[in-house]
Amino acid sequence: MSDSPRNSIHGQWSSRWVFVFAATGSAVGLGNIWKFPYIAGENGGGAFVLVYLLCIAVVGLPVMIAEILLGRRGRQSPINTMASLSREEGRSPLWKLLGWSGVLAGFLILSYYSVIAGWALNYVLEMVNGTFTGTSAGQVQTVFDELLADPLKLTLWHTLFIIVTMIVVARGVRGGLEKAVMFLMPSLFVLLVILLAYAMNSGAFIEGLTFLFMPDFSALTREGVLTAMGHAFFTLSLGMGAIMIYGSYMRSQDSIARTAIMIVFADTMVALVAGMAIFPIVFANGLEPGAGPGLVFQTLPLAFGQMDGGLFFGTLFFILLFFAAWSSSISLIEPAVTWLVENRNMKRITASIICGIATWLLGMGTVLSFNLWSEVKWFDRTFFELLDFLTANIMLPLGGLFIAIFVGWSMSRKSKVAEMATKYLFAFNVWSFLLRYVTPLAVTVVFLQSTGLLAKLI
Ligand code: PHE
Repeated sequence: MSDSPRNSIHGQWSSRWVFVFAATGSAVGLGNIWKFPYIAGENGGGAFVLVYLLCIAVVGLPVMIAEILLGRRGRQSPINTMASLSREEGRSPLWKLLGWSGVLAGFLILSYYSVIAGWALNYVLEMVNGTFTGTSAGQVQTVFDELLADPLKLTLWHTLFIIVTMIVVARGVRGGLEKAVMFLMPSLFVLLVILLAYAMNSGAFIEGLTFLFMPDFSALTREGVLTAMGHAFFTLSLGMGAIMIYGSYMRSQDSIARTAIMIVFADTMVALVAGMAIFPIVFANGLEPGAGPGLVFQTLPLAFGQMDGGLFFGTLFFILLFFAAWSSSISLIEPAVTWLVENRNMKRITASIICGIATWLLGMGTVLSFNLWSEVKWFDRTFFELLDFLTANIMLPLGGLFIAIFVGWSMSRKSKVAEMATKYLFAFNVWSFLLRYVTPLAVTVVFLQSTGLLAKLI
């Protein structure tokens, strides 16, 4: 049996490339361009980047393969996929909880993701208006601060972003996402390369590269290590069912491993190129690498304000950043929507509206955390920081850990070989080894060290 026994009731990708582009569309998003540079900056650069890259290779890639495999074998929402597969493999029905935690994580992430995507929308407008032409770093900073201080403006963009996301989700994966990502992702990459060329010529390029790639382990804290691992999951969209649900629309005959490698490679390249474009600008203008979530919005407008054709490139850049965020956000809420369709017998449109309203409401917490509630803290974190920490650093790695355990230990080798349909037994065994031993160990060690427990043990 080399074919999956099931078909998805939600449809199927029309070709192998559509899956590659859709999954890349999910992976490449604010995580690569907004989050990666600012957390690398906050955590001292090189050593953080090294840990992140290591996590991508030994944890991210094996889990990506495992998650696609689960999705394609289950062909339902993550919750029902886990329910069916655990039954098929004769395992505890509690594995369904993995699906539930994914649905919850996706919902939590989208609530703040949408607010940040709203910033990108606002910057499209600022660019068109020529706000940044020939400005100084100080003025760029002021524009950003004023945006964050304005709950109404933030709410407006957040609302708009949720609406456009839910429209695509309501129409179903086939109805628009397919064509959009195939064209938008490559364009974004081209623009990043243009920015990189600018950084090479007019920024402190060597200084930027040194910061990004020369490991200085004294700059990396215990929590920094956890953040690096968490980000490996976040940026690859792993551990919450997004890749699983996209895998469920994948054709049975396509190679999972080869596809996963392409997605991981593309995602990592985008993040690195973004970092290489941003840090030279940071250093050339005497800005702070650890400036926080505003980093991209305080550096790139400066570059666009100075370069030839900056108005055009800048506008295009923020439009494409918005599209990148859009194609990611669709996959964040797709697991919840498909579950409502499958188990509550809802129409896609009703399910989308319900999910949209709920995420919008929760997102208001993030909107306010940048202004009226900026002093309200739980565990020393604002609402936004808490959600980000809880999802990216805890829920996604835990989800990934359990995916590795389920596929590595609870699924029979026969089902895995059948689903992978691979001729390369050696590669299969390497993957299997990574998934069974290396991934669980790495995630556990990072969790333990972040609490300081490991240091006490040794
Ligand atoms: N990978 C996306 C990004 O880097 C975010 C995301 C996380 C999307 C989890 C789906 C699931 O922006």
